[in-house]
Amino acid sequence: MQKAWWQGKVAYQIYPRSFKDSNGDGIGDLRGIIEKLPYIASLGVEILYLNPIFASPGADNGYDISDYRKINPQFGTLADLDELIARAKERGISIILDMVLSYTSCEHELFKRALSGRKAPERDFYYFVRGSNGRTPDNLRSFFGGSVWERVPGEDDLYYLHYFTKEQPELNWYNEQLRQRMSDLINWWLDRGIAGFRLDAIMNVVKDRTFPGLPPDELGDGSCAAARMNAKLAAQAPSLHQELKKHSYGPRGAFTVAEAFGLNDTILDQFIGDEGCFSTVFDFTARETIEKNRPGYYAYPKGTLKIYRDGNFHMQQLTSPLGLVAPILENHDEPRAVSFYLDEGQQNAQGARALGTVFMFLRGIPFIYQGQELGLTNTRFDSIGEIDDVQSKNEYRNALAHGFSKEQALAILNVHSRDHARTPLPWDDSPHAGFTTGRPWLKLHQDAQSLNVAAQEQDPGSVLNYYRALVALRKRGAWQECFCSGDFIPGPTADDHVMHYLRKGTGKCAEIVGNFSTKERVFELSGEGRILLCSIPEARVEGRRLTLGATGAAVVEILPGRSA
Ligand code: BGC
Repeated sequence: MQKAWWQGKVAYQIYPRSFKDSNGDGIGDLRGIIEKLPYIASLGVEILYLNPIFASPGADNGYDISDYRKINPQFGTLADLDELIARAKERGISIILDMVLSYTSCEHELFKRALSGRKAPERDFYYFVRGSNGRTPDNLRSFFGGSVWERVPGEDDLYYLHYFTKEQPELNWYNEQLRQRMSDLINWWLDRGIAGFRLDAIMNVVKDRTFPGLPPDELGDGSCAAARMNAKLAAQAPSLHQELKKHSYGPRGAFTVAEAFGLNDTILDQFIGDEGCFSTVFDFTARETIEKNRPGYYAYPKGTLKIYRDGNFHMQQLTSPLGLVAPILENHDEPRAVSFYLDEGQQNAQGARALGTVFMFLRGIPFIYQGQELGLTNTRFDSIGEIDDVQSKNEYRNALAHGFSKEQALAILNVHSRDHARTPLPWDDSPHAGFTTGRPWLKLHQDAQSLNVAAQEQDPGSVLNYYRALVALRKRGAWQECFCSGDFIPGPTADDHVMHYLRKGTGKCAEIVGNFSTKERVFELSGEGRILLCSIPEARVEGRRLTLGATGAAVVEILPGRSA
């Protein structure tokens, strides 16, 4: 693989609405991010990914974009963004934006014109399809529940397609003129100094334009998840994305990370690597394992360390010969990892340090999600009124419809809701945790008074300072190459509470061992080693044996010439 500028870096994801509010309106903004750049830089991260900041009516928190060249005034102005790009660059940080190109907002100019009549040239930029006798064109179900089809007002039996909320009409990627507009848009942002993009929902762009539908799935209402259609058509996605790459981010050397669900070994080689459509793809395998063939939150179990480990091990091995993957523990669509993947007694700072360790040394470009570096756990939501997320609200209704009580439905959201990741970042112990001087748009974490950045800055043993050490080690000298693109070799997996793997670069070799059991354990190493970093004091290496206390993780250098 050729070495690109972004290789070896660690990325940080910001959910702008919840990061830092600079003007007291209760909503995080770009000036808040600028203010906190020293903090971001202190983590050692060099790529900053911002969730959508474009003009949007807010049907899905900014994922419904009405103007891709304007900034949502809640977040600031283009001048603020220009300043952020420049000031971040001074600190060696590149900004990447969330590019949502599989659909627009229904308030977007193109959709409004498309709606205006059959002859409008923009009509073909979206999918307008006739149903018959009051029936929708097919039986696909949106990712947020309900049909993917919405009736066009004032027209009989005419529908437009949307895979998420009805305010997010799907774009027709088969229209060449539209694809040209997308390339122009991407180039416009690259000209402004944006270093790349997170490309949203990239598997959704392929469609069977005969809209045949699919056999009903296990939900039992005759519909079938749209994701199944994506899976069926997945092999067609790369050619559409290759074209975009060719005309925009490819020649410009931009960094691209794709949100791609349903990747498998037959198509992965077309997504990553020098010839792939993207620089990298997020690894969602763990989440997908949990969601597989389940109709909604109400039917998902909680995650486990085993699910996280097995998902990552699978993807690490699959991607290693091809290119780089982007490992995650959390993002804005997931609950907090410490609550989600760990057992009850481990959902604390010690658990967060151990989990952070086994995550940080996976192969590829790791993305830390805001607050993960503090070891934030899930927020306790006491009523549905405290939830903002459109998907969570739908899931609540979904659970009630399946016979759960309100208490049970809320308990399900307390495990899975996307709002766990979206509560404002706690900065200090002042009112509203220093996030805003106004009223925060979403409730704060129940422990914000003690679990915050300022408190952790003071404590050398905090999760925050430990994350800094993790990132620093990952980038230190020859380790950078080893951890980013060196070999990944899984360790034994018989014990569901252990995550153990080996990383081997040109001149360096390390074993990463996480003991998530409740007892001290002894691990056989592949050679004599020495501890580079460990999350608890109870860790020692004697020859080829590592002794590690409960809920602890260690990074052990295997000394050259001493491996077995
Ligand atoms: C984003 C979600 C969003 C969805 C639909 C996804 O790719 O990550 O946050 O709800 O797109 O807009």
